[in-house]
Amino acid sequence: MNLYDLKFSGCKSCFACKVKGGKNNGDCVVNDDLKPVLQAIDSADAVILGSPIYFGDITAESRAFFERFMFQVLNYEGPAFMDSKKKIGCIYTMNAPESYVADIAGKYEMLFGLFHQHVGYVAATETLQSDKYDRFYVGDAANEAYKKQRRETVWPETMEQAYELGKKVAS
Ligand SMILES: Cc1cc2nc3c(=O)[nH]c(=O)nc-3n(C[C@H](O)[C@H](O)[C@H](O)COP(=O)(O)O)c2cc1C
Repeated sequence: MNLYDLKFSGCKSCFACKVKGGKNNGDCVVNDDLKPVLQAIDSADAVILGSPIYFGDITAESRAFFERFMFQVLNYEGPAFMDSKKKIGCIYTMNAPESYVADIAGKYEMLFGLFHQHVGYVAATETLQSDKYDRFYVGDAANEAYKKQRRETVWPETMEQAYELGKKVAS
């Protein structure tokens, strides 16, 4: 499921998912393209969220998904209205080097871990971004040769790590 294919918003704090005696407790009532995704997740054991890192965080669409997925089961005393915790895996891609990963991954490990079981993450760092750098004004920082070499050598290892994460989340 590619979130960019859907039209949806983040949480609007309507609280309809937590009305006393309400019939929608634990379920986001916002009726947009994300609703069937959240419904499918209801009966799933696990979720893997993959996102590029934009300006130091997951993308706007990923964050909107995250808000809706998480807030529907929150009641400020902890998780509520939940039949079971989901196993969560995260995959990040970014231009920055490995040293930037811990802050971002640690934040989502903590946040997902509030209500679910964060199983692990994989980060693809210093990604190629484009195979046609000469077409764009991206400056020296792009370092095309270095990134192409990483694509050849590091990317296959990262794919292997992603496969192992998938196995762990599914087990
Ligand atoms: C709007 C925007 C903001 C970005 N911000 C960051 C950032 O803060 N840190 C970073 O490491 N990479 C940043 N990037 C780079 C993306 O993370 C990178 O293009 C993405 O991981 C996709 O890489 P790929 O196309 O090689 O898979 C940004 C890219 C865009 C388009």
